[in-house]
Amino acid sequence: MLFYKKDGDFNLYELWEELEKNCSKCVKCELFETRSNVVFGVGNKKAEVMFVGEGPGENEDLRGEPFVGKAGRLLDEMLAEINFYRDKNIYIANIVKCRPPKNRDPSSEEQLACIDWLRNQTLLIKPKILVCLGRIAAQRIIKDDLKITKEHGLFYKKGDIFFMPTFHPAAILRDPSRKKDTLKDFLNLKKKLKELTVIN
Ligand code: URA
Repeated sequence: MLFYKKDGDFNLYELWEELEKNCSKCVKCELFETRSNVVFGVGNKKAEVMFVGEGPGENEDLRGEPFVGKAGRLLDEMLAEINFYRDKNIYIANIVKCRPPKNRDPSSEEQLACIDWLRNQTLLIKPKILVCLGRIAAQRIIKDDLKITKEHGLFYKKGDIFFMPTFHPAAILRDPSRKKDTLKDFLNLKKKLKELTVIN
């Protein structure tokens, strides 16, 4: 896998095209056999904030876009409260780009096979903050023993990026009492972004 250089003299548009084209043909794990579409990502490729979920469900697989089902609508509604919109100022992706059958969790092997696509998306976007939606994304990206209920809303710095875990919108649908905590995390995220913008 080619890791794109972070800074340098290249045409970002072409790099995105190449990355997305290669990803659309990916056969690195067996999820390619059952997918309708690769769900690459959506949003502003110069976003300061990225959101990462675990993997596409049925609606996402059919439409080729992340978070377009019931959980996605809740996510959009909560993001709008902090003036974040997928068609304006954020980028949304997943750990795995193809739907795990019957919406099971993506296996560790599938996550590892897929993670370089996300790594390259992150290198191209260069977000200030990356939000991990739910345990699967948080444990893969931040640390493998992360406990969402205890550690949601905290910031972890790695390299130039701050990482924040919070609840997955599907978990909020199962337990609506988590919505308040998640909105609090989102407000803190806005505050952090403001601080980082003032510093730089
Ligand atoms: N859940 C996820 O983690 N990602 C999606 O894109 C949809 C549902």
